[in-house]
Amino acid sequence: MPDFRSVFRSRLLALAVLLVPPALQAQEEVPFVTSPDNVTLEMLRVAGVGPADHVIDLGSGDGRIVILAAKRFGATGLGVEIVPELVQRSLENARNAGVADRVTFKVQDLFETDLSKATVVTMYLLPEVNLKLRPALLALTPGTRVVSHDWDMADWKPDQTTVVAVPDKKVGLEKSSKVHLWTVPAKVEGRWCGAGLLRGTSLALTQRHQEFEGTLVRGDRTRNVDGRIEGTTLRTSAASSGRAGELVLQVQGDRLRIVAAGGPLALAQGMSFVRANGSGC
Ligand SMILES: C[S@@+](CC[C@H](N)C(=O)[O-])C[C@H]1O[C@@H](n2cnc3c(N)ncnc32)[C@H](O)[C@@H]1O
Repeated sequence: MPDFRSVFRSRLLALAVLLVPPALQAQEEVPFVTSPDNVTLEMLRVAGVGPADHVIDLGSGDGRIVILAAKRFGATGLGVEIVPELVQRSLENARNAGVADRVTFKVQDLFETDLSKATVVTMYLLPEVNLKLRPALLALTPGTRVVSHDWDMADWKPDQTTVVAVPDKKVGLEKSSKVHLWTVPAKVEGRWCGAGLLRGTSLALTQRHQEFEGTLVRGDRTRNVDGRIEGTTLRTSAASSGRAGELVLQVQGDRLRIVAAGGPLALAQGMSFVRANGSGC
């Protein structure tokens, strides 16, 4: 059985050699292959891109993702690309599309790019490149959306994956593309202490990317909780919500505010936990 990744890589490289003029073959690690229009559109659609967004495409090729984000969804954008000729082509494409005032393209190594202004990061790279970028992506502002064409990020599982038909796909074995979406989760691991009327209640959480589990303790009562973190919102799973009802918490700086609660905690809606200073409350 041929290994899918090596088949993908060798076909991608072969295609790049065939299609790309020699001057554009400077970067072999991730060759220039464009995302088809329907995949580009899906990447921006799943991320919910809108006029308030700043989209950064890492390895921006001919600029199509950032240009469509500006033209169709009113976003601003930055494309970083290692091949100067592709940056020139992107600038020209942006002018032709009438969005040159909202998008920028730079000849720059994607690993040296400041991502702090991004509300959406898009990538069509390779699995090992995604993995190398992962720590920087996880460190972005909670709520930042990350979209990757085809490749995922190992045990940081996507929040959502859609499959788009690409009948004339020239790389890989499938005639379709995957579009993966992640939302950068807030960092909530640790102990939180009830404040105000919640004094005496504590919440201890562990976190693996966008999944959390922990215990809520008040006096001699303990409730186990687990669930998912969507940006700054924590939502208990159906299993751990059980008869006690769903618990929804919102990270607000050093506070964790109960924004929705069922059962015995219903009266605690609007109350907060604060981060413990030491190990106890
Ligand atoms: C598969 S293409 C994707 C192009 C575009 N994002 C798209 O989806 O149509 C990957 C691009 O990344 C660029 N690239 C590879 N390594 C890079 C690096 N270290 N820094 C910036 N760009 C890089 C390549 O030149 C190529 O244009």
